[in-house]
Amino acid sequence: MLTGFGNHFATEAVPGALPVGQNSPQKVPFGLYAEQLSGTAFTAPRHENRRSWLYRIRPSANHAAFVPYDGGGLLRAPDGPVSPNRLRWDPLPITGTATDFIDGLTTYAGNEGCGVHLYAINRAMNARAFANADGEMLIVPQEGRLRLTTEMGAFDVEPLQIALIPRGVRFCVDPVDGAARGYVCENYGTAFRLPDLGPIGSNGLANPRDFETPVAAYEDEDRPTELVMKFEGKLWTTTIDHSPFDVVAWHGNLAPCRYDLRRFNVMNTVSFDHPDPSIFTVLTSPSDTPGTANIDFVIFPPRWMVAEGTFRPPWFHRNIMSEFMGLITGAYDAKVGGFAPGGASLHNRMGAHGPDRASYEAAVAADLKPHRIANTMAFMFESRHVFRPTRFAMETPLLQPDYDACWSDFPKAELPR
Ligand SMILES: [Fe+2]
Repeated sequence: MLTGFGNHFATEAVPGALPVGQNSPQKVPFGLYAEQLSGTAFTAPRHENRRSWLYRIRPSANHAAFVPYDGGGLLRAPDGPVSPNRLRWDPLPITGTATDFIDGLTTYAGNEGCGVHLYAINRAMNARAFANADGEMLIVPQEGRLRLTTEMGAFDVEPLQIALIPRGVRFCVDPVDGAARGYVCENYGTAFRLPDLGPIGSNGLANPRDFETPVAAYEDEDRPTELVMKFEGKLWTTTIDHSPFDVVAWHGNLAPCRYDLRRFNVMNTVSFDHPDPSIFTVLTSPSDTPGTANIDFVIFPPRWMVAEGTFRPPWFHRNIMSEFMGLITGAYDAKVGGFAPGGASLHNRMGAHGPDRASYEAAVAADLKPHRIANTMAFMFESRHVFRPTRFAMETPLLQPDYDACWSDFPKAELPR
C-alpha cells in the first residue's frame, strides 16, 4: 500500500508502463490508453485540485449506452415534508436471499450534501462493477471484511477500518467472510479531507501517514462485466466486454484509500467538562461557509475519561448541525440500551437529545475515578443540512416506535422552597 492522505502517488503493475515526464505521450508504453480522471474542476486551486492519470488496456469509454437499472435500494432521499422527530433503527438484517453490494445498499436518509445508506450483503458482485457519478463513497464496515477491487488497485477493509472511494472510480465490493454489513456516506460536496487542527498543532486526530492507497493492479480478462452507475439519484446499467479493472499504471492524487480507526489519536479533556465532539472529527467535507461542514465524519473511539467534577457522557443538546449516528461495536456512552451495533439513529437540526435516563443517573452517581471506555466505536455523519429519511426508513419495522421514551420520566429538579 502507498501511504499518506491525498499524496501524489505513482504506481505501475508492469515495469515501464507509467510514462515518464509527461502524461499523454504520442505512444503510451505497451499501447496502453492514457486517461485523465478529474475529481475537481481543472481550474480548482492547486491545493484543492484532485486528479489522476490512468494507463489502461482499453479506454473506459468502451461501453454501450446505459439503460435504467431495475433494482437496488440506492436512491436519492425524497423531497417533501420531514418530521423533526428523533428516530432510531434496529440493525439491518442480512437476509437469506443472495444480495450483492449494488442490490444490498439501502438508502436511509439524505440531503443536499450527502446520502446515507446501509448495506447488508452475502454475495460477491461477480462480473459486476459500480461507479458513482453523484459523490464519493465513505464505506464504514460494521460486520464482515470487504474486498474492494478498484481501477487503482485492490485492498481489504474490515470493521474498525473505513474506505473512501472517489466519485466516478469503478469498483466492486465483495464480502470476504460470506456476509457483511455496514454504513455508507455518499458525499455530494467537496471531497473529504483531514480537518484543520488549530491549537492542537501539527499532529493528532487522524494522522495523514495512516491512510493507505493500493498500488496498481489489473485484470486482463475479456469477460463481460455489467457496469452499474449512480447518476443523478438513479441507477443505470450497461455492459462492458472486458474487466473494467484494466489499469496497469496510474499516477495522481485522486485514488481510493483506507484508514484504520484504531489509529485515531484521540484528544480529550484532562481537566473538566465534556468538549464538543468536533475533537473526534476524522474527515470533513467543508462547505463554502468556513467551519460549517457539508459533512463531518466523527468517531467515538475507546478513550480514557478523567474529567473531574464533570458529567462525563455527552450532555443534553440541541444543535444546528444534523446527526446521523451508527455503532460499529460495543456500546455508546450516552445510551444504556436500544442502540445496537449495526443500528442507527437520527437527530436532526434542533432536535433535543442526549443521555437516556439510565445513562444520566449512572453518570450523576458515578465515582469519578479515571475510567476507560473500552471496546467501543460509534460514529456520526454530521451535516449542515437536515437529513430527509426515505420511505423505507420511515416504514421499516426496524424503526423503533418508542425511541422518545428514553427521555421520559426524568424527575423534576428540586428548587429550594
Ligand atoms: Fe447529538
